[in-house]
Amino acid sequence: MKKQKNAVILCHNYQRPEILLGIADFAGDSYGLSVEARKTDADVIAFCGVHFMAETAKILNPQKKVLIPSLEAGCSLAESITAKDVRQLKSEHPGVPAVCYVNTSAEVKAECDVCCTSANALKVIEAMPGNEVIFVPDKFMAANLQARAKKKIIAWSGKCIVHDSFSAEQVLEYRHSYPGLKVLAHTECLPEVVSLADMAGGTTDMINYIAASKEKRFLIATECGMSDLLRERFPDKEFITPCSICPYMKKITLENVLEALEKEMFEVKVPENVREKAKKALDRMIEIGK
Ligand code: 13P
Ligand code: SF4
Repeated sequence: MKKQKNAVILCHNYQRPEILLGIADFAGDSYGLSVEARKTDADVIAFCGVHFMAETAKILNPQKKVLIPSLEAGCSLAESITAKDVRQLKSEHPGVPAVCYVNTSAEVKAECDVCCTSANALKVIEAMPGNEVIFVPDKFMAANLQARAKKKIIAWSGKCIVHDSFSAEQVLEYRHSYPGLKVLAHTECLPEVVSLADMAGGTTDMINYIAASKEKRFLIATECGMSDLLRERFPDKEFITPCSICPYMKKITLENVLEALEKEMFEVKVPENVREKAKKALDRMIEIGK
């Protein structure tokens, strides 16, 4: 079906193993997927991830048909903020640049000066003019960035329900039980978890860290799909994975990917006036990330 439709299957690192390891043409983090969406010459992009990611692919590829196999594949962060909320924040802080994490809707991106991902957030924030930035929607990521950033971060109150579930006590217990453990935490985790980690970053940062490390044991504080991917990619290493399932990511199944391709549904659409403004925020991110 993929060949018949000249489709490419883009897949986030958290997807089910049968999708990620079985049918994906490209697996990556949010940033890698946006870049790949830009490069593809396929007519159809079947997006195995959550809605804001498929929307990002559409913003960058208006001429392509972008499909999301389930309309229930949302995100607690993206759903925590609206375009109206961003306008309100900007009016409370006039002239302060607004940075949005990629986990936001197209309407929210359209209200912001620049977008960022976990892999490039600090670089993007530091590239903004002035001593303050508005950062939406993740409050934990904002606090984690604040610990490293030179400027003041004005945060929104969103959180990821998956990364919210890891605790500092849990990390300390695992460290005690597994000597020599390296702790890798996603930057969406609570600051007390990130401060105990050996490395904090996005999903690709985690893969790169493990690939470059001589260590054998890693605790992975992120979504469960990463554990499947890491065990496949690094069979000689040991992964301790308390792991938490993203109910949104797991709405994508092999069956609904096939159905999406067969029926060319559900097509992701973004109104042109919103798309143009959101694209500026993404283009600026890609430019800063180079
Ligand atoms: P990455 O961009 O690090 O892959 O993260 C996306 C995401 O949704 C994390 O929960
Ligand atoms: Fe959203 Fe969290 Fe799921 Fe990522 S893991 S898609 S941030 S709810």
